[in-house]
Amino acid sequence: METMKRTATCGELTKKDAGRMVTLNGWVHRNRNHGEIQFINLRDTYGITQVFIGDDADKELKKVSAELRFEYCVAISGVVKERPETMINPDMTTGEIEIEAKNIEILSRCEVLPFMIDEESDAKEDLRLTYRYLDLRSGGMQKRIKLRTAFTFAVREYLTKQGFMEIETPTLIKSTPEGARDFLVPSRVQAGKFYALPQSPQLFKQILMVSGFDRYFQIARCYRDEDARGDRQLEFTQVDLEMSFVSRDDVLKVTEGMFQYVFEKTMQYKLPETFTRLTYEEAMNTYGSDKPDLRFELPIKSFDTLAADTTFNAFTSVLEAGGSIKALNAKGCATYSRKMISELEQAAKIYGAKGLAWAKVTEAGLEGGITKFISEQADEIISSMEAEPGDLLLMIADKWSVCCNSLGAVRSKLGKDLGLIDPAKFVFCWIIDFPLFEYNENENRWEAAHHMFSMPQAQYLDTMEQDPGAVKGDLYDLVLNGYEVASGSIRIHDPEIQKRIFSIVGFSEEVAEERFGFLLKAFRYGPPPHGGIAPGLDRMVMIMAGQTSIKEVIPFPKNTVGISPMENSPSIVDEQQLKDLHLKLDFSEDN
Ligand code: AMO
Repeated sequence: METMKRTATCGELTKKDAGRMVTLNGWVHRNRNHGEIQFINLRDTYGITQVFIGDDADKELKKVSAELRFEYCVAISGVVKERPETMINPDMTTGEIEIEAKNIEILSRCEVLPFMIDEESDAKEDLRLTYRYLDLRSGGMQKRIKLRTAFTFAVREYLTKQGFMEIETPTLIKSTPEGARDFLVPSRVQAGKFYALPQSPQLFKQILMVSGFDRYFQIARCYRDEDARGDRQLEFTQVDLEMSFVSRDDVLKVTEGMFQYVFEKTMQYKLPETFTRLTYEEAMNTYGSDKPDLRFELPIKSFDTLAADTTFNAFTSVLEAGGSIKALNAKGCATYSRKMISELEQAAKIYGAKGLAWAKVTEAGLEGGITKFISEQADEIISSMEAEPGDLLLMIADKWSVCCNSLGAVRSKLGKDLGLIDPAKFVFCWIIDFPLFEYNENENRWEAAHHMFSMPQAQYLDTMEQDPGAVKGDLYDLVLNGYEVASGSIRIHDPEIQKRIFSIVGFSEEVAEERFGFLLKAFRYGPPPHGGIAPGLDRMVMIMAGQTSIKEVIPFPKNTVGISPMENSPSIVDEQQLKDLHLKLDFSEDN
């Protein structure tokens, strides 16, 4: 039997359609039976339309309508009627009309639901993921997946107009870890050998520049075997870009243009012409983070000079040991109780601070906390902290990085607690001039702060080996509302510089050749100077959708332990599959 063919969606009929005979297809979203009249809210991806079955409806129709349950998939034909004035719902496109049903066909039935389909689900995460097909029916998930689609479309439109070519790179590649662990895929044909899934298309996009493609992009799937947190997944998507013959500012400009276009197209939101730029040191010193949330100010200040004049041993001893003192003026927080201050201290301790010193500002000067150790400098402190009566001064003395990170955590907490963050705002900023190397204290060696293919800034080329910690790279991160949303760099295209970087991070020539020989070889054939960037698509859409977990914008994500409860992956495979891949399982080393 042919089903009743749809003539309108559930999101489009208005009073202009009154009198029309229509057929809608969709799901029973709500079903209210008031005895003499039954109301059904019929839902599809375009909206919801109210349908009614009156008391005078024919017997056959009533029999079918009595059978309807939540999420039955149905076709309903009927006449569009204007709603009485008092029943108009101005919040819905279809709020002016309802359909008087004439015929209902059940297309498929639905079992008792594990959770209700609502705007947002309050079911437990694993239940939502087990029944993801139902979860995706919710209004919220539908909106977010649509935003994601619109985002991808706008990115493609913008970049294509700018002359970028969309080129695919392989997802079965040589294992070249970029920082995280690789996912490995055993080869059947090449016994004992493995492909890796790419952590990003980094090396291939650089090789595409050697191949002369000038401007490349890819909506690229990346795989990293790391712990899945709120803004991380094992499998995620990047908008991967690379450009030849460019300097840093060219890459930043294209990225700004792309996001201006995407925000305008998808959210009608106007971003500024250029985004604020902070050096890594400025960001750390002023906001205590290399991904500062600039939706609010609350700047951190240096307290070194003021602290040096005090008799407070906890400050002076840190200064003598080469550490720093930093302070934050928590505006209007003099009313904070000891308990509330101790909660701020807890936030600081997570980042290594041993304590959080404080003093309240009153009409008479400073009061409480460490006042007695700094009272002689009170006037100077109040004026340099731009403090007024009612403020609370917070201070941390420690290693520079501990001071910055800990007070940065206090700043973030205050931003939230004091309601300083406007959730409707999107504030981007660039962080530039990052250190090229980081010291790995556990392994006693230098490692690349971003990845090993980023260019040191020219002024460090002669001294790189003597003082790796001082080298700044041609690196940049894009930050949005306190999240790192993109990273990139100008790349090394000189094999000699590349070899020096490998040697600083402790790769012998043999290891470097074994792992990255193909790139070094390509660089012997006239590579152009080049650079690029990779915004994380999931993270961007998460922030645009006002969410704090990327799972809310990924149709089929993994849970926190890397499981997809819907199809139950990862799963065991049968003996023969392992045999074909020349693999034997051995759990003897596991505890
Ligand atoms: P990076 O490793 O910094 O750089 O990644 C770039 C951006 O990708 C996103 N991202 C993630 N999103 C979700 N889950 C994850 N596990 C995850 N890891 C990273 C973030 C991040 O800013 N090849 C370089 C880019 C380049 O130099 O061009 C790279 O991958 O938004």
